[in-house]
Amino acid sequence: MTPTELFIGATRNEVRALPAYNAGLSADSVRAQYGLARVAKLASNENPLGAGARVEAALAHALAGGVSVYPDPACGALRTALAERLALAPERLCFGNGSEDLLAVASHTFLAPGDEVVTVVPSFGLHIIYPQSAGANVIAVPMRALEFDVDALCAALSPRTRMLIISNPSNPVGCAMSTAQIERLLSCVSPATLVLWDEAYYEYARHAPDYADCLPLLARSRSPWLMLRTFSKAYGLAGVRIGYGAASDARLVGLMERIRTPFGINHLAQCAALAALADSAHMEASVAHVERERERMREALVELGYAPARSYANFLFFDAHEDAAALSQRLLAHGVIVKPWRETGYASCLRVSIGSADDNDLFVAALAAERGAAAARTLR
Ligand SMILES: Cc1ncc(COP(=O)(O)O)c(C=O)c1O
Repeated sequence: MTPTELFIGATRNEVRALPAYNAGLSADSVRAQYGLARVAKLASNENPLGAGARVEAALAHALAGGVSVYPDPACGALRTALAERLALAPERLCFGNGSEDLLAVASHTFLAPGDEVVTVVPSFGLHIIYPQSAGANVIAVPMRALEFDVDALCAALSPRTRMLIISNPSNPVGCAMSTAQIERLLSCVSPATLVLWDEAYYEYARHAPDYADCLPLLARSRSPWLMLRTFSKAYGLAGVRIGYGAASDARLVGLMERIRTPFGINHLAQCAALAALADSAHMEASVAHVERERERMREALVELGYAPARSYANFLFFDAHEDAAALSQRLLAHGVIVKPWRETGYASCLRVSIGSADDNDLFVAALAAERGAAAARTLR
């Protein structure tokens, strides 16, 4: 064996056993591979309206001021603005290089080998990969009919559970728990369990009359909690990478501070997030676009014979009734990138982001063509 092979062999088992995160394909690679002029990237739940004009101005201003100085490690200006917005003490907030960074930091701060983590399946991949990378055993509770199965989640929880991770609205399904469901779930959680409540899609959901406001519910829970949100989705900043968390107690943030990289949230990201937060008109326009286009896409999918799950987010999830990986591969030739689900039991499901009206039309036309082609193949 070479020294490198010996070295790799001595790396922690939990690292060697980790699956790679399915980050999807870039529009450029699909354009080049298929020789296409136009590609609709509907696989990463990005914002088709992009960042607003105020963000662009803030970025230009920040660049003009120079980038040779380290960023503010405390994210002071953004911390103050968000603390005011959320009516929380500034010390209870934390920031990450995207909220995925905070998922990693929380996992590596609070989990040890052998700890038990409860989450759901289908799930956002990093809710499983990061806890596993810290050596935790993840129990993934299946959804029922593409809704959270709160009874099954309660049955899976015990005082041994070190962390409960929920994305609400769910990625990939888009469903959300009612206030009564969240209350019941939280009543089952032991005080020894950290509730990690991932609200990456909060801005899209919050106007729905039945969407539960999680902060007061978490505040009443007996358990420690950490709620995560991001600037990547409704604020259109996925490319600059910034997300934040609010914790039940500043001491949880203090522990995470010891694990995170001190300058992990760069200066441009902090300036962009501050400008985005101040521009609620642009964020609301992005949300209104998604609400309109999501309904149009849903109707088109129903017309084609599919039954997308109810979505509170900027994507739709549906059973394609065929191998979703093969279908999404065929869609690439039409210039459409979507996300086939890979978790056991969901390999016939696709998640499609709500894009621009033109991109959504391209997706629907490509799906209709591929569905027709598949039907013709079965008839032959
Ligand atoms: C549920 C959920 N959490 C967290 C993230 C991470 O987002 P970001 O790191 O861009 O803030 C995503 C991204 O798609 C997500 O869907």
